Amino acid sequence: MALRLDILTLFPEMFDGFLAASIVGRAIRRGLVEVVRTNIRDFALDSYGSVDDAPFGGGVGMVLMCQPIFDAVEAVRTQDPRPGPVVLLTPQGRPLDQALAQELAGRERLILVAGHYEGFDERIRQGLADMEVSLGDFVLSGGEVAAMAVVDAVTRLQAGALGKDESAHEESFSEGLLEYPQYTRPREYRGMAVPDVLLNGDHAKIAAWRHEQACLRTMQRRADLWDRYRKRHESGELS
Ligand code: ADE
Repeated sequence: MALRLDILTLFPEMFDGFLAASIVGRAIRRGLVEVVRTNIRDFALDSYGSVDDAPFGGGVGMVLMCQPIFDAVEAVRTQDPRPGPVVLLTPQGRPLDQALAQELAGRERLILVAGHYEGFDERIRQGLADMEVSLGDFVLSGGEVAAMAVVDAVTRLQAGALGKDESAHEESFSEGLLEYPQYTRPREYRGMAVPDVLLNGDHAKIAAWRHEQACLRTMQRRADLWDRYRKRHESGELS
């Protein structure tokens, strides 16, 4: 059965273009994933559509209230018997990386909750969320862009979501290295030439060059990834 992704948000229309285009759009049309958007505001109890309120203890900004979020999550749960973790998108969460994407991609359902502008009432964390995921150490206006990142990363990992050409790109990164440099025609552009090794058709040499470049790049740009890669190597996990 297709992975079901529920997205709870105050701005469901933000996802329109994203869900229609490219690999995600195609995976939905092929029935590989099912994406269901739910507007949190539909669960407000008053005629103003209130979903947030001033923080106890004072301070600036507003706080997303428990009731609309708990009610929205409970409502989408009744739409499908499959259980799925409730994932809050917040800067306090576990940073999204390929390992987390792989973990999430293996579930049968995810209930993604995006806040906007304001924080969540802490009891949403306490009593509703199974995990929190962050897109990185920066502040977004809301969790929607982070939810899109999760949807994109897990959709790409569903069987049949990628064509042969598209899946090649996954390999280097799931090995823990950055991508090697790529070139296409022409052989020379504004005085910048394509490395000779790529032009001579020696596939073993090309593979060795690409691996070396991926290592160099990772070493130079991402000491953290390089460290992890080396340790996995030394422990014999990779050959
Ligand atoms: N909401 C606001 N900032 C965020 C971030 N960095 N990651 C996930 N959700 C967010």
